[in-house]
Amino acid sequence: MNILITGSNGQLGNEMRVMSAAHPKHNYFFTDVVDSEGVQVLDITDKAAVSAFVQDHAIDLIINCAAYTNVDKAEEDEVTAMKINAEALSVLGSQGIRVIHISTDYVFSGDEHIPCRESDPVAPRTIYGITKYEGEKRLLASCPEAVILRTAWLYSSFGNNFVKTMMRLGKERKELGVVFDQIGTPTYAADLAWAVFTVVEAPVWHPGIYHFTNEGVCSWYDFTIAILALANITECQVRPILSEEYQYKTPRPHYSVLDKSKFKKTFGVAIPYWMDGLHRCMQKL
Ligand SMILES: NC(=O)c1ccc[n+]([C@@H]2O[C@H](COP(=O)([O-])OP(=O)(O)OC[C@H]3O[C@@H](n4cnc5c(N)ncnc54)[C@H](OP(=O)(O)O)[C@@H]3O)[C@@H](O)[C@H]2O)c1
Repeated sequence: MNILITGSNGQLGNEMRVMSAAHPKHNYFFTDVVDSEGVQVLDITDKAAVSAFVQDHAIDLIINCAAYTNVDKAEEDEVTAMKINAEALSVLGSQGIRVIHISTDYVFSGDEHIPCRESDPVAPRTIYGITKYEGEKRLLASCPEAVILRTAWLYSSFGNNFVKTMMRLGKERKELGVVFDQIGTPTYAADLAWAVFTVVEAPVWHPGIYHFTNEGVCSWYDFTIAILALANITECQVRPILSEEYQYKTPRPHYSVLDKSKFKKTFGVAIPYWMDGLHRCMQKL
């Protein structure tokens, strides 16, 4: 297959590049809005450019790793977030080929106390969440064959993320307050890339929405403790704080654990525990 990967400079895009080496039977076209080594320029909001790229390279499958991911900035720049996270999904979905797309736990309110299933009602509370949900709808309307993987708390050895921030702050500071009243599942982007390839390589194509994160649950406080322990940073005292003490610019979900039963049952796989993913990522840092 000829596979177009968008947003290749991001966390997941880079992990897709690493993992593609294990699947050499396909031809990969890595693209992003900004070029870099081995990455061609393709803006997913540019309908003419996307159509030309798909035709010129006889693309069979699009894997969309591109997104507007800055939750706070999205509140002030709804137009751009909507363009990239929602309008572009109609562009990608209308190429007459299959699409694998990544969505988010932010489509849910975060008010629940049991893991969210794919069929649970959505209620996004942020512009980011609203635009991502709108993207899901537009993709499914234009491409009923699409697969959407909703994930959460993504980190990687590539790009900037919570793991790298905590390692830096842990070295710089003697004390660190981290929220313990937001519960979710840290997800290693390499494991999400593995999930994407699980979908690609399945003997039967199973369209629809799936939840995929690593296994287990924790708070950002627990996550931080694990990061500093694995990084052997012992001088910094981590203190559990409430979200109201942190004063977020944008509301964060209190509970956004995703139920992954559908993914595991459909594809017949087991998913790595979040600590295991963290351990593998830290070995690369
Ligand atoms: N990060 C998380 O914690 C998290 C949680 C849940 C779900 N997700 C979802 O998981 C997916 C992957 O996230 P990620 O963390 O890998 O994202 P990321 O690191 O922010 O990467 C996204 C990439 O897309 C590029 N991009 C932005 N606008 C584009 C456009 N118009 N055309 C082409 N490329 C464009 C970005 O370039 P610039 O950086 O230059 O803008 C960046 O290289 C996204 O769909 C995200 O919504 C992420």
